[in-house]
Amino acid sequence: MQPSKILQVKLAGDHAPGVLPADATAFCVFTDEPRLPLGANLDDATRRTIEDLLRAGEFKGEADDAAIIHTPDAGTPHGARRVLLVGLGSHGDFCPAALRRAAGVAVRRAREARVKHLQLMLPDVAESNASELARVVAEGARLGFYENDFYQQHDADDQPTLEHFTLVARAPGDHFLRVALERARIVAEAANWARTLADEPGASLPPREFARRAAEMAAEFGLTVETLEAGEIRERGMGSLWGVGQGSDEPPALIVVRYEPEGASADDELWAFVGKGITFDTGGISLKPAQGMEEMKSDMAGGAAALGALRAVAELKLKRRVVAVVPAAENMPSGRALKPGDIVRTLAGHTIEVVDTDAEGRLVLVDGIAYARALGASRIVDLATLTGSIIVALGDHRTGLFSNDDEWAARVAAAAARAGEPAWRMPVSDDYKKKIESPIADFKNYGGRPDAIAAALLLSKFAADTPWVHLDIAATSWHEEAQPHAPAGATGTGVRTLVELVRG
Ligand code: BES
Ligand code: MN
Ligand code: ZN
Repeated sequence: MQPSKILQVKLAGDHAPGVLPADATAFCVFTDEPRLPLGANLDDATRRTIEDLLRAGEFKGEADDAAIIHTPDAGTPHGARRVLLVGLGSHGDFCPAALRRAAGVAVRRAREARVKHLQLMLPDVAESNASELARVVAEGARLGFYENDFYQQHDADDQPTLEHFTLVARAPGDHFLRVALERARIVAEAANWARTLADEPGASLPPREFARRAAEMAAEFGLTVETLEAGEIRERGMGSLWGVGQGSDEPPALIVVRYEPEGASADDELWAFVGKGITFDTGGISLKPAQGMEEMKSDMAGGAAALGALRAVAELKLKRRVVAVVPAAENMPSGRALKPGDIVRTLAGHTIEVVDTDAEGRLVLVDGIAYARALGASRIVDLATLTGSIIVALGDHRTGLFSNDDEWAARVAAAAARAGEPAWRMPVSDDYKKKIESPIADFKNYGGRPDAIAAALLLSKFAADTPWVHLDIAATSWHEEAQPHAPAGATGTGVRTLVELVRG
């Protein structure tokens, strides 16, 4: 596997040229007046060229649109001979998330055009502060730069060329701008790290390798890691996690990574991020259909996001004790696999009848949640590619949010909105309890539709009275097709939400 490349992001002023000459300058364009940001520092010839193009309706400024114009005679005041127009939609729809995405679109379009050094003029939008805008642009650029071509050979002349990204701002020396850019780097690199794991094929990321990668990251970022191996999982009574892993030749693992801020004391609040870590989900004996099964290599995206969040929280030195708990297993059919009708005994003591071995995520999570509570977690967020049902309910533009605590739910939803990873609250209520009632065990793991709600209700029984939020990211963690701002594959969803949540 080749290491992924890093995009260098720098700041420059809108009068002094950047350190390196850029070969393209990007401008954000709105669909309504003023089409070009008022502050856009353009020479007359370039401005005329762009205005002609806009007047002709050749470029409308719609979100996700981008166009490249060659301006060999005029050039821009910054020396670039190409202009990249990026659509931002209408002023009324403007939000930092739209700008983050536009920066990603710009980077991908520039790379396609073999631009080596792209500079983007920070738009000044009324009522938005420059450091917030700079941060989302820098995040979007790095997220947009992500590729999952680790296993692909490139000819020498087909190597990605984009290496530098300069953000051109009014006051590049501004302290807040520099801080914002550093925060963007940390968060986007953590999200891309999580994406790398979720894009990794199942064969190269079984639970033990997942744990090794977590430990490697933990060592780099000063986190402590403790991984429980298969034997310990069984001995400590995590029969549910053990059960899911038992059909595989690859043993399960419980990955626990802790962050203790400087000066923290043991009675400070401890938050737990519990992430589903199914490194491949075949469905087990309740085998999945072949079509689309390859996507199930990313069934540990929730676990990767929890770990990615810890990485960023540590690098940002945020003041909150946090632990990531990732129950990891490979869900395989075999002579040793769980069978429909089997009953597992969970760490919390409740038994669960396994009606469908493909409803394995909830089985590993209930032990992860119970373990987090045993560690003393006072608040929990779990993230899981849990159900096809949430894809039916919300599609891929909203993560499903379930909770037993209105205040905690509102905090997580607000963090998700700020992060540009919107979540939509769904019910958790005993109205639905028939779906998880078993005649022979305390619960069953599947009872028909609506399954996303039933799964959440089962998890809630294990969160008990601890404030808990469950994020069902089955749809939002993965792009089936390439997007203007992202390749097909893992999105890293959850990392930004959790970091926002810890920042408060
Ligand atoms: N990992 C899947 C959910 C999933 C489906 C994630 C599609 C991403 C894309 C989960 O383990 C699963 O198999 N859920 C089943 C449960 C059902 C068979 C009880 C589902 O939702 O179909
Ligand atoms: Mn499954
Ligand atoms: Zn699964």
